Amino acid sequence: MKSFFLSINKCVEMSYFHSSLSFPSSIATLLLLFPSNMFNQKPSMAEDLQELILNLPREKNLDGTNSLYLFKGAWVSAYVLRAVDSFQRHFIAQDTDIIVASMPKSGTTWLKALTFSVAKRHLYDPRESPLLTTPPHELVPFFETDLYMKDPHPNLEQLPPPRIFGCHSHFANLPESIRNSKCKVVYICRNPLDQVVSFFQFTHQFKQDGTPLLSLDECYENICRGVHSRGPFWDNVLGYWKASLERPDKVLFLKYEDLKEDIISNLKKIAEFLGIPFTDKEEKEGVIEEISRLCSLDNLRNLEVNKNGVRPSGAPNSSFFRKGEVGDS
Ligand code: A3P
Repeated sequence: MKSFFLSINKCVEMSYFHSSLSFPSSIATLLLLFPSNMFNQKPSMAEDLQELILNLPREKNLDGTNSLYLFKGAWVSAYVLRAVDSFQRHFIAQDTDIIVASMPKSGTTWLKALTFSVAKRHLYDPRESPLLTTPPHELVPFFETDLYMKDPHPNLEQLPPPRIFGCHSHFANLPESIRNSKCKVVYICRNPLDQVVSFFQFTHQFKQDGTPLLSLDECYENICRGVHSRGPFWDNVLGYWKASLERPDKVLFLKYEDLKEDIISNLKKIAEFLGIPFTDKEEKEGVIEEISRLCSLDNLRNLEVNKNGVRPSGAPNSSFFRKGEVGDS
């Protein structure tokens, strides 16, 4: 009976993710973000947002486009602004949810793979993991660039627990239900120098329009001013850092560099934090090592599924796997 429920669980989960992500890729202008019928109805929050946008501070994104807005204290790309607003306004957390939070280019993809593998290990043996056939960003979709981009009110109730989501929002901007429920938040932070190099390389890999990219020096300057996607850096990082000190049962604060140095003890830390520590039997059977191998950069990068395909933002799946070095500055 248990295995019956487990397989139902698996089917629901896999079919949901495969069907939910085939929506059009990046949206170029803000106007496209608002369906025209919205303007015939009584003022909605989205209309308020559109009016608000006119007065938001605006700066150049690191990809050279003039499309970064300061929204609730965080710099957000135009194409995702509405989704960020919908998510922050409407998402209702469940106590069993797991949120993988980060700034872009901090090792989010890695942490998604690790968290998924730890949290779902009762369903999937690492040797038959869905990670072998599905990119980490599809198994653990972002609230902003995946779920709420597709639909301002996505139906997430059907997902079997634990639901695992990715998120780039500042801690202070998370929906109240995330901050107040018993759901868990795992955050990863990375040395900002490596992060900016990673971002610079990332944007150079798949820049689509003809807008000239910022030079590396301009990128550094903007980042020092706090003007970069989901910046300012310190506001993003310190929000989660303080929350992890105040509520260690709620927020686990991890560093990319620590994971690189000792993945095994960090996997144990993640499992303990999620309330599902590895058993002695699992340790003896080498389950932790299996997960670490499965989620290693070399393994994920060389899987066919991660060599092909494109994210809704237009970024190829392959662009999330580069050097993965500490001190690549
Ligand atoms: P580099 O560009 O420095 O190589 P994010 O997932 O937040 O977008 O971060 C991407 C960075 O994490 C990239 O860094 C990428 O190479 C690295 N990365 C991706 N998967 C990884 C893994 N399994 N192990 C270690 N680093 C990984």
